[in-house]
Amino acid sequence: MGSRPKLVVIGQGYVGLPLALRAAEVGFDVIGFDLDGAKIKRLEAGESAIEDVSDERLRAALDDSSYLPTVDPAALTGFDVAVVSVPTPLAGGNPDLSHITAAARLLAAHLVAGATVVLESTTYPGTTEELVLPLLEDGSGLVAGRDFHLGYSPERIDPGNPDWRLENTPKVVSGIDDTSLAAVTAFYDRLVAETVPVSSPAVAELTKLLENTFRHVNIALVNELAIYAHDLGIDVWAAIDAASTKPFGYLRFTPGPGVGGHCLPVDPSYLSWRVRQSLGVPFRFVELANDVNAHMPDYVVRRLILALNQRHLPVNGQRILLLGLAYKRNTGDARETPSRPIAEQLVELGAEVVLADPHVDDRALPAGVTRVDATPELAASAVATVLLVDHDEFDLEALAAAAPYLLDTRHRVSGPQVEHL
Ligand SMILES: NC(=O)c1ccc[n+]([C@@H]2O[C@H](COP(=O)([O-])OP(=O)(O)OC[C@H]3O[C@@H](n4cnc5c(N)ncnc54)[C@H](O)[C@@H]3O)[C@@H](O)[C@H]2O)c1
Repeated sequence: MGSRPKLVVIGQGYVGLPLALRAAEVGFDVIGFDLDGAKIKRLEAGESAIEDVSDERLRAALDDSSYLPTVDPAALTGFDVAVVSVPTPLAGGNPDLSHITAAARLLAAHLVAGATVVLESTTYPGTTEELVLPLLEDGSGLVAGRDFHLGYSPERIDPGNPDWRLENTPKVVSGIDDTSLAAVTAFYDRLVAETVPVSSPAVAELTKLLENTFRHVNIALVNELAIYAHDLGIDVWAAIDAASTKPFGYLRFTPGPGVGGHCLPVDPSYLSWRVRQSLGVPFRFVELANDVNAHMPDYVVRRLILALNQRHLPVNGQRILLLGLAYKRNTGDARETPSRPIAEQLVELGAEVVLADPHVDDRALPAGVTRVDATPELAASAVATVLLVDHDEFDLEALAAAAPYLLDTRHRVSGPQVEHL
């Protein structure tokens, strides 16, 4: 590697890999470090597991040696900038910062004067300064601010969104002091079209949680509305379409089978945990939204049972076709997906559950569920089809025409046999 600045990205997942490749393309020598040996082997072979990163792009960066995926900590030596994009899950409902802690300890061992460290993992306000800063100082013997720069910059990627990508989405940046903010801003100014500096890491951390909690709460609102509107005999989708014509003061959110992915089911709980831990009070909006969204899979199963009951059919022993296992259309990300508890409940009730999802690999299939192709013949052979994720590959018109009954949780098709959430 030559005189290009050296960037280390810890964690080569949905956040870390696109960032690493973007940096490689704009002139950094990038080390993509991950503990997952199988993932690194696939990356070395030029296989991207992420829809937004094509194999061609990955291979171009591997070929010109601007990107090196590795499990070897020795490769971190002498970095100019390090970005941490490791998971921040919940453990027993509480934040699990073990991955951030491990990454910070590792970086501390390789930290040299003048380097910059940025945390990107979503976490509660205070993490950068209260957890990462002392770990870096203790492990390196250096002093934050004086010897090295430190900041936080939340990720805003929207997997599967072709319009808003890393480089054209404004990026919030922060630092523990003015020089750190300048160093962090200068780094991201090379990667993205617009940086948005804020006054402290805590503000940047809270910004991310505000964005996700906003989505979580609004989705919960329309989900609960959908349940009551159905019971009142009113078409909630028509009301949402009508409300969406308001040019100001309204943002469109739509009901669905629940929330999934790494963000919405997890991040708001980081905020409510922090509020409860520091202030001793519950963050009621977050807890209510968690409750509503977590129960949507039960509601979908209940609606299906009621529809079959009207047709004098049990669930037990019947074939039911589920369309979509990913949490989101056109992605293969099945983390925390609401399709899973729906499939599991139906298996538990004795149904023969068959599932189609062209994006998700077999390892994510729930136990007792058989993978199938979403053909009209298969839909015709099942007593019911449930549209959970509207991937582009599904020929929804043909499936709706063939299915004896279709529960459409995404409001994508209509017809005499179709019911909406
Ligand atoms: N996926 C999204 O859309 C999204 C969007 C914004 C923010 N985020 C946040 O970014 C963070 C990362 O999310 P992700 O979706 O990229 O996760 P991911 O699971 O796709 O990737 C994280 C990677 O980090 C690796 N890892 C774990 N501990 C490590 C360690 N100590 N050292 C090196 N590698 C380690 C894992 O093996 C994994 O490959 C999370 O905090 C998440 O909340 C995710």
